[in-house]
Amino acid sequence: MLAGARLLVGVTGGIACYKSVDLCSRLRKAGAEVRVVMTESATRFVSPLTFQSISGNPVATDLFATPAQSAVEHIWLAEWASIAVVAPATADILGKLAHGIADDYLSTILLAFAGPALLVPAMNRMMYAHPAVQASMAALAGMGYDVMPAEYGHLAEGVSGWGRMPEPPAIVERLAGLAAEGRVPRPELPQPAPRDLDGVSVVITAGPTQEPIDPVRFITNPSSGKTGWALAEAARARGAAVTLVAGPVALPDPPGVRVVRVRTAQEMADAALAAYDGCDVAICAAAVSDFRPEAPAPEKIKKGEQDGLDLRLVRNPDILAAMGRRKGRRVLVGFAAEAGAGPEEAERKRASKGADLVVYNDVRRPGLGFGADDNAVVVVGAGGLREAIGPAPKREIAHRILDRVAALRRI
Ligand code: C5P
Repeated sequence: MLAGARLLVGVTGGIACYKSVDLCSRLRKAGAEVRVVMTESATRFVSPLTFQSISGNPVATDLFATPAQSAVEHIWLAEWASIAVVAPATADILGKLAHGIADDYLSTILLAFAGPALLVPAMNRMMYAHPAVQASMAALAGMGYDVMPAEYGHLAEGVSGWGRMPEPPAIVERLAGLAAEGRVPRPELPQPAPRDLDGVSVVITAGPTQEPIDPVRFITNPSSGKTGWALAEAARARGAAVTLVAGPVALPDPPGVRVVRVRTAQEMADAALAAYDGCDVAICAAAVSDFRPEAPAPEKIKKGEQDGLDLRLVRNPDILAAMGRRKGRRVLVGFAAEAGAGPEEAERKRASKGADLVVYNDVRRPGLGFGADDNAVVVVGAGGLREAIGPAPKREIAHRILDRVAALRRI
């Protein structure tokens, strides 16, 4: 599967460098064209001339050494390559790549390369075990890089441990597998967001609410707030002035967004309705508790001798319905998380609460919805509108919902 492949081989400075010479030789025998990029420290272990002879091509080391024929010539290798491998990959290159740092030839090319790439970490066992290095590897795997685990065995420092570079035949086999998958394991390049909400004031509710039973207990639900956050970030990117009224979630404030943190449904209603007055668009993505304990106990409830506990619950205000009653010219969007009912139930809610759109999702679908990064929804609107979106990342779904919001504002 490597026959005809244009292989970029990155070599960074570790004692395992010498194995990369054998790796290049095997890759050529497998029919690949090989071009090597070495870091400065790799050249201290093995001479570039060795790699030049074995690859049959000049070896690149210095970002500024070769006279450039065009302004972007230094990254032409990134365009040329069909697949890349970095072996050995030191803690340094892993950390740089995980954080988007490009301060030498190899790190620059790797950032500009959008094809499948295999990383083969090899280093001292303490370095390999360091949480920062492990975090870099996990982050890179999450971005779609193929990270080949180091092996256990004899290390240069004279002891055994995890950190050994796998043998070249195993690396060739893994690369062949990656090439055969025929996929580019990297995220889609983000599309620039349209500026169609420039200056528009948007209020978004997000996350769960907590309804206290006593000072240490409360009623809540597993909403993560991710949908509301994705909507806030997407609206901000499209030019909106966003107020995000959020129940208790573990997410940091999105940049450029005014965040009002609340706890109970009543606090959320107060904050959201206050912001609603001057807004153009409101989106209720929060999973609000419909009920709250009528009289939260002032002290922690003791179990004592009683074999049960009656808790009387009373209704919370319905924020979306309250907004619907005084909608004016605003665009109003709600959500309907259903466990069984179909989009017709979402349409019933839309009409009864006075919203323009209701975003329906089926909470029973595994891996989607509550707490997940992805979702699959149907946008329900007047005149029989039914637009199915996903399964897709919540960010993508947020933009598609905002496409609808922007279209409604133009009517
Ligand atoms: O009636 P149901 O709770 O299923 O409606 C869900 C929609 O109503 C969501 O948009 C949710 O944010 C909103 N809602 C609200 N206040 C409540 C209950 C629901 O804003 N008390």
